[in-house]
Amino acid sequence: MKHKPDQPSANGILPKHIAIIMDGNGRWARERGLRRVKGHEEGINSVREVTETCSAMKIRQLTLYAFSAENWKRPKTEVFYLMSLLERYLIHERPTIMKDNIRFTAIGRLNKLPAGVRRELKNTSEVSARNTGMVMCLALNYGGRTEIADAARSLAKAVDAGELNPSRITPRVFAKHLYDPQMSDPDLLIRTAGEMRWSNFLLWQASYAEFFVSNVFWPDFREPQLMEAIEAYRQRERRFGGLSRKP
Ligand code: IPE
Ligand code: IPE
Ligand code: MG
Repeated sequence: MKHKPDQPSANGILPKHIAIIMDGNGRWARERGLRRVKGHEEGINSVREVTETCSAMKIRQLTLYAFSAENWKRPKTEVFYLMSLLERYLIHERPTIMKDNIRFTAIGRLNKLPAGVRRELKNTSEVSARNTGMVMCLALNYGGRTEIADAARSLAKAVDAGELNPSRITPRVFAKHLYDPQMSDPDLLIRTAGEMRWSNFLLWQASYAEFFVSNVFWPDFREPQLMEAIEAYRQRERRFGGLSRKP
């Protein structure tokens, strides 16, 4: 059935928080006979277009999976290239982030990132801290299980210090110990390059996210593909364990 925004079964509204597993840079490059790093470089243009589009649509938060805790297993040269690309991105995109009133944040084990990246992350976060538009979050050296384990350690410390009674640990209290306690749960989780897996991304937060898998590689994921994902989301009925609103 063709979607109409006022159709009672569809939620019809825009997602407040979109999270994206940006995948397929290497395959995009290989298809063109280029080196993998060229795919990462072109992927930056998708990051820019998707960010600007989300910001213009007044999406409240965009979280991008840019480097997983598992990605250190890649060849040293690729990891080095990704880190230097990230550093350059943070410097070059800062004026656009400011122009668009975006508040920049990052999650993950950031202290393990190279010093140059940490410096630019700090600069971009600080300079944009008072911006009131969309929150853009990069997940870097991020792993969902590590985040949950780190939260458990932080809770255990609070219990140990006599600040928290174990009987008061609820999902709400637990979430306050995640990397970004302010982060809302993603409503829409997009993965590109046709892969049907979660790859350790926002395991806690995405427990009720709507999944959308796009077949295009990340460097080809631009405004039309984003619109397709958002439109699919608008047609979903979110029940959260309840019953259909359909009569
Ligand atoms: C996503 O593209 C970028 C990162 C994970 C950093 P890939 O590099 O995973 O590309 P494929 O999956 O090998 O095509
Ligand atoms: C997931 O992509 C991580 C990021 C997008 C940063 P990968 O390409 O690393 O995922 P797997 O290993 O194929 O699942
Ligand atoms: Mg991949």
